[in-house]
Amino acid sequence: MAKTGAKTYYITTMGCQMNEHDSERIAGLLEAYGYVQAEDISEADLILFNTCCVRENPENKLYGRLGEIKRLKEKNPNLIVGVCGCMVQQDVQRERLEESYPYVDLIFGTHNLHRVPALLERAEAGERVIEVWDEAQEQVEGVPAKRGHDLKAWVNVTFGCDNFCSYCIVPYVRGRCRSREKEAVLSEIRDLVAKGYREVTLLGQNVNAYGKDLDSPLDFADLLAEVNAIPGLWRVRFTTSHPRDVDDKMIEALARLEKVCEHLHLPLQSGSSRILARMNRGYTSEQYLKLVEKIKRAVPGISLTTDIIVGFPGETDEDFAETMRVVEEVRYDSAFTFVYSPRVGTPAAKMPDQVPEEVKKERIMALVDLQKSISEDANRSYLGKEVEVLVEGPSKNNDQVLASRTRTNKLVHFSGGPELIGKLVTVKITEITPWTLYGEMVGESK
Ligand code: SAH
Ligand code: SF4
Ligand code: F3S
Repeated sequence: MAKTGAKTYYITTMGCQMNEHDSERIAGLLEAYGYVQAEDISEADLILFNTCCVRENPENKLYGRLGEIKRLKEKNPNLIVGVCGCMVQQDVQRERLEESYPYVDLIFGTHNLHRVPALLERAEAGERVIEVWDEAQEQVEGVPAKRGHDLKAWVNVTFGCDNFCSYCIVPYVRGRCRSREKEAVLSEIRDLVAKGYREVTLLGQNVNAYGKDLDSPLDFADLLAEVNAIPGLWRVRFTTSHPRDVDDKMIEALARLEKVCEHLHLPLQSGSSRILARMNRGYTSEQYLKLVEKIKRAVPGISLTTDIIVGFPGETDEDFAETMRVVEEVRYDSAFTFVYSPRVGTPAAKMPDQVPEEVKKERIMALVDLQKSISEDANRSYLGKEVEVLVEGPSKNNDQVLASRTRTNKLVHFSGGPELIGKLVTVKITEITPWTLYGEMVGESK
């Protein structure tokens, strides 16, 4: 229960890991301002939606949720309803919220989330507060984060994106790519380790662009090496890598640095070079496959995951068949698959040859089926093996069962007591599904 007297907040996060980490930072700011987390949305004094606009679905979801919130607002006129994040960076969405949702009291964007206490104070005084910046001002450091986990943490390394893939709204709503100063990143991680964190995931829309905009000549592989050297840290992960920017130095770092885990998220988007060119991805499927081969050779046993879009404008049956072929050849451990969703303001939305919805649906079903069997095969290769896992906590549905992760980022369930949480243990894998590994603990390593 909340402390008597303290106001409470409830944040709903609708987007990617960066969006989730933004929510952690907003929560940190709200708590520093005196709010505490509400147990339930219906009890909160402040309800905040941190939105995503990468596809139409999360946008529709927001409007659905706001419809429900209207009733809470009618019951409690003092309730403050806020919307922030990527969606409000788009003029059309912000205007729609402003005009058609009068009970939304507070709107702020991705570039000014650090202003939340000041904006909230005005909203508390009864003002309708709308403040969205078109671009980031100076880099804001030192925003406290209330993190969702106490062993693993997200750490921003870059904000924004310069790639302008032709389907993607992210560069428009997140701005140009900006790197954090190396010292800011390292000191945040040292601080996390001092608090008991063991794993970090370095976040950026394209982490391989790290450092290109800084004065010091430092690239992502150099940063990885420095993070790797932090005593007390056990595991380092990062996401996302753009295939075009993965160079030999970075592969070598992945192979050599002992804390950097054997997992790479390498979005393919399409297996057809013709579609990749229209997507402005900057590589062909042949180049992508060569890169994968090189990575697999350098880092044996690495797990590869990906993002794929089906139904991009102009995608023919043959283009889609090429995507299926690449998926078969790479044999991803898992894949996030999306139906192409036109985003206003992006070049692809204006392309004339949009693919009919039924065709998109058929294609995604075929792709999901294929990937499911490949994921299952990939997991089957773990049967009988002993793997090192970091124990993260009780599993979601059964507190007698522990949830843990391999270095390759596979979820492993096994039975064990809470004293193992936060430890590295060895588990022998005895059962698998396409999504989860199951095993028995055979030893403790740390
Ligand atoms: N910066 C990351 C992630 C961007 S968003 C990257 O480049 O990999 C996550 C994924 O959403 C993308 O990889 C892409 O597969 C998907 N996506 C982006 N825009 C989309 C759109 N308009 N329709 C469908 N999927 C999209
Ligand atoms: Fe979007 Fe492409 Fe940037 Fe990823 S790399 S965020 S898909 S523009
Ligand atoms: Fe992430 Fe969605 Fe924004 S994917 S960057 S929250 S548009």
